[in-house]
Amino acid sequence: MSKEFIETLITKEMIDEKIDKLAKILNEEYKEKRPVFIVILKGAFIFAANLLTKLTMDLRVDFMVLSSYLGERNSSGKVRIEEDISIDIDDEDVVVIEDIIDTGLTYKTLKKKLLANSPRSLKLVTLLDKRSKRNVDENPDFTCFVIDDLFVVGYGLDYKQRYRNLPYIAVLKEE
Ligand code: IMP
Repeated sequence: MSKEFIETLITKEMIDEKIDKLAKILNEEYKEKRPVFIVILKGAFIFAANLLTKLTMDLRVDFMVLSSYLGERNSSGKVRIEEDISIDIDDEDVVVIEDIIDTGLTYKTLKKKLLANSPRSLKLVTLLDKRSKRNVDENPDFTCFVIDDLFVVGYGLDYKQRYRNLPYIAVLKEE
């Protein structure tokens, strides 16, 4: 591969501001409830950590490890559940925390699986939404940023496991 370089797309300040807004909405919507937040690993770990520390309701957190890109820039078109949740979500209010919704295939697969466990409600929050790439009829309930069809890294998102530690979202380009 030719040399790659990154260009900032969304700054840390912009992300912090959106997370504050999202936390306010969730604190209001779930204040009388005891939701279970399911963090989709690996990409959502930084977004989830920052969002969850701003939530004030009585909540529980679980994790699911999924893979669809298999380290490449384009989705493999197949979603693998590498590790499942351990909390029983039967009759619970569930909120999934995702890093990015691209084609929507990952969420479609995930939703089908979670609904089979009869949650009382199921919502999705995502940091990023590549809306123009959607090829299934699944949309997030809360989105921080809608972005163009660009391959992005940082704030948890990777390219071949690199760049996850960037405190902002950047576009990965090739020279
Ligand atoms: P979907 O199934 O096509 O919606 O893909 C969702 C998953 O693909 C995300 O959870 C990410 O892991 C990965 N993904 C999609 N777009 C990007 C990107 O621009 N950078 C890094 N990972 C991405």
